[in-house]
Amino acid sequence: MSGAVITTVLPASPEAVAAAAQALADGEPVVIPTETVYGLAADAVDAVAVARVFAAKDRPADDPLIVHVSPGLLARTGADDRLAALVALGLVSPALEAACARTALALLEGCWPGPLTVVLPRGPAVPDAVTSGLPAVALRMPEHPVALAVIDAAGRALVAPSANRFGRISPTHADAARAELDGRVRLIVDGGACRVGVESTVVRVHADGSLGLLRPGAITPEQLTGRVGSAVTRVGSEAGRAASPGRTPSHYAPRTPLVVTSTPPSAWSDARIADLRARLSHGRLGWLAGSDALRPSTTLRDALGAPDVVEALLASDGRASTAARHLYATLRSLDEAGPDVIVACVDAQDDGLAEALTDRLTRASHGTRPLPP
Ligand code: TXA
Ligand code: MG
Repeated sequence: MSGAVITTVLPASPEAVAAAAQALADGEPVVIPTETVYGLAADAVDAVAVARVFAAKDRPADDPLIVHVSPGLLARTGADDRLAALVALGLVSPALEAACARTALALLEGCWPGPLTVVLPRGPAVPDAVTSGLPAVALRMPEHPVALAVIDAAGRALVAPSANRFGRISPTHADAARAELDGRVRLIVDGGACRVGVESTVVRVHADGSLGLLRPGAITPEQLTGRVGSAVTRVGSEAGRAASPGRTPSHYAPRTPLVVTSTPPSAWSDARIADLRARLSHGRLGWLAGSDALRPSTTLRDALGAPDVVEALLASDGRASTAARHLYATLRSLDEAGPDVIVACVDAQDDGLAEALTDRLTRASHGTRPLPP
């Protein structure tokens, strides 16, 4: 599937929202902005529309999708609370254990709208394709006025995986979504740059009401514990594969090999410098600096043989949230400059986003031999 359709980008407006709602009603996927990353939306209970999402992304069928809802959509059910509304829409099972329901409700009422995806036993309206046949469904209420307006106007719950081809860098602005899906979708709604910049936290609610963290994001385990009173278990990579099939070790990856370090260039060993130098076959180095202090010094440049350096600063304030906001767009632009290798030199001040930032950098660098100490 490529070059089959003309892709139109419309700035967010009531007309663009109406056009998106119409396309969604026709079973057409549409790219919409959210506060985390851009999503490729489609009617969550239309198996044909869902199949089009998998095809446009080249996504394997065993990687399930998140279902997105809005306050308006839930209110229309007339149910007493958000959990009851999800059950009324057929998205969540009516037979939750009491402890599971209690924890779920605390999260839905306390953290939505926002960058939190909650995994719960699925309801009868959810097609198999959405959950890849799993007995649980992932649900999120985004905190972006355009995303919410599209869900309201469409009057339906929407699947919305990140609007990139499978395994590639998630788009945090409309141009990036177009670069990923040009000719594969008819409509992209441009809502500007995404505020958070990395995908939502994904958490599973177990039958006993305890929580398992499947993907770190802007909502931290500490915040979740604060809401529900119980500890959050980080699901390890082994169990994680079964629990959250889309969490492959390699993900969010640029085409250029990426290496990650938190050591300032002034403290690099001779062995490390020699190793990096040997990778610069075209004399072109990409450098992603987590803060001003982590930019490549003149001494390092000289020691590397004075390569052509394409540099980007992730966060002038050195904060993890700022770095996370700029991560994907910066990686994408460095990748496009075509260096031999990209060094991400990042040691961000943790303001809640450090775990998510490290997770994404680790996955983006998977498959490239790390720098020596
Ligand atoms: O911030 C976000 O969540 C963005 C925006 C667009 O909302 N969406 C997003 O979707 O990141 P996607 O498809 O790129 O990532 C979905 C993640 C995957 O890791 C997938 O394995 C996991 O959620 N997931 C989805 N359904 C699941 C389920 N039933 N059980 C466990 N994990 C699930
Ligand atoms: Mg994704």
